[in-house]
Amino acid sequence: MSVEISISKLVQGLEPSATLAMSAKAKEIKSSGKTVYDLSVGEPDFITPQHICDAGTAAMKAGYTKYTIASGIPELKKAIAEKYKADYGLDYNTNQIVISNGAKHSIHNVFFTTIDPNDEVIIPAPYWVSYAEIVKLSGGIPVIVQTKESDNFKMSPAQLEQAITPKTKMLLLCSPSNPTGVMYSRLELEQIADVVIKKNIFVLADEIYDKLIYGDNKFVSFPTIRDGLQERTIVVNGVSKTYAMTGWRVGWTFSPVNVAKKMGELQSQETSNPCSISQYAALAAITGSQDCVTEMLNAFKQRRDYVAKRIAEIDGLSCPEMGGAFYAFFNIKKHLGKKIGNSTINNSEQFCLELLTQKQVATVMGSSFGCEGYVRASFAASIDVLKNAYDRIADFVS
Ligand SMILES: Cc1ncc(COP(=O)(O)O)c(C=O)c1O
Repeated sequence: MSVEISISKLVQGLEPSATLAMSAKAKEIKSSGKTVYDLSVGEPDFITPQHICDAGTAAMKAGYTKYTIASGIPELKKAIAEKYKADYGLDYNTNQIVISNGAKHSIHNVFFTTIDPNDEVIIPAPYWVSYAEIVKLSGGIPVIVQTKESDNFKMSPAQLEQAITPKTKMLLLCSPSNPTGVMYSRLELEQIADVVIKKNIFVLADEIYDKLIYGDNKFVSFPTIRDGLQERTIVVNGVSKTYAMTGWRVGWTFSPVNVAKKMGELQSQETSNPCSISQYAALAAITGSQDCVTEMLNAFKQRRDYVAKRIAEIDGLSCPEMGGAFYAFFNIKKHLGKKIGNSTINNSEQFCLELLTQKQVATVMGSSFGCEGYVRASFAASIDVLKNAYDRIADFVS
C-alpha cells in the first residue's frame, strides 16, 4: 500500500517564486556546460564589502554565536533608528523595531500580525512576486490594482480610492518598485497619503531600494509625507540590496509599538532571532563607511543607462524610466504571436522560456508580477554580461 503525506490546504495553492524558479532553470542549463546570462534574480552581483564580512568573522571570534533577543540585538535596533533619523528625520524608538531573517520575513510578520481572515490588502500591479502569496497565507485577500505603462506603472489616487472597500485594511506600497524600477514623486505620494488618511486605512511601505536611486529622483520615506502617517505605516527595509548582503538574511520593520511587540512574539515562536553573526555584520554595514554603497550605486547607474539605451534600440521593446532599484520591465507585446522554430510565443512565460533555451538569457515573465506582456530583466550584472545578454535579446526578437 502506498501512502502519501497530504499537503495542507493552506499551502496547496501557494505559487512558488517565479524568480527563483527561472534562476534554478538557468543554473540547470549552466551545469550542462553552456554560458548563461542570468538576469533573473534580484540581487547585487557584488560580494559583501570586506569590512562587513570582517565584522561577521569578529562576531564569531568574540563568541556572538548564541541566541539573541528574538526581535534582534539592541545595538542594531539603535543603529537602524539613528540612520532613519539622520536620513529621513523620522523618530523611532527601539521598541518599534523588529529585526528579522530578511525583509521577506519582515513582510510575513507584518501580514500575520495585522491581517484577519478576509481583510483586504491593496497591491498595485506589477508587484513583487511574494506580496500576494504572503497575504493569502495570512488569510487575507490581495486586491490587485492594475496600473498601465502609459501611467509609468503608477497607481493614481483615484484608482486607490476605487479599490478601497469596508474590508480594506492595508495598502502595500513599493517605491522604487520591484519589478519596474519606477518611483512615485513626493506629490504623488502626498495624493496617495491623503486617500489613506481620508479612508482610514494602513500602509506597508517597502523601502528596501531606498538607497538605489538614479538621476534627479529623490527618495521620500512614506511616513514623512503627512503628519500622523507614522501611526498608520509600517516600514520595511533591510541590508540585502543596499549592502549586497542577500545571503546574510537581515531585514527589519519600523511600526507602532503594539505591532512591533506582537511581531517580536510571533518571531519568538516561529524562528527565534535572526542569525546573531549576520546581525553584527549588519551593524557594521549601517554604522561603517557608506563609501561602498556609493561605489555600488555608481556601477548600477552606469548599467541602468546602458540597459535603457539598449532597450530603446531594440525593435518593439519599451520600458518606463528606471528611477531606482535594478530592474528593467520591458514591453514585449509587439513580439507576441510570433513563431520561433515550431513554437509560437503567445505570452511572457513562453517568451522567457524560449529566450532561455534558445539564447541562454534568463529573465522573468511579467505574468508572475501580475502583468502579462512584459518581461523583467535585472541589471545587477556587469556591463559585459549585459552587453552579451542584450545582443542575444536583440537577436532573439529579430
Ligand atoms: C521589493 C522587495 N521587497 C523585499 C525583498 C526581500 O528582501 P530580503 O532579501 O531582505 O528578504 C525583495 C527581494 O527581492 C524585494 O525586491
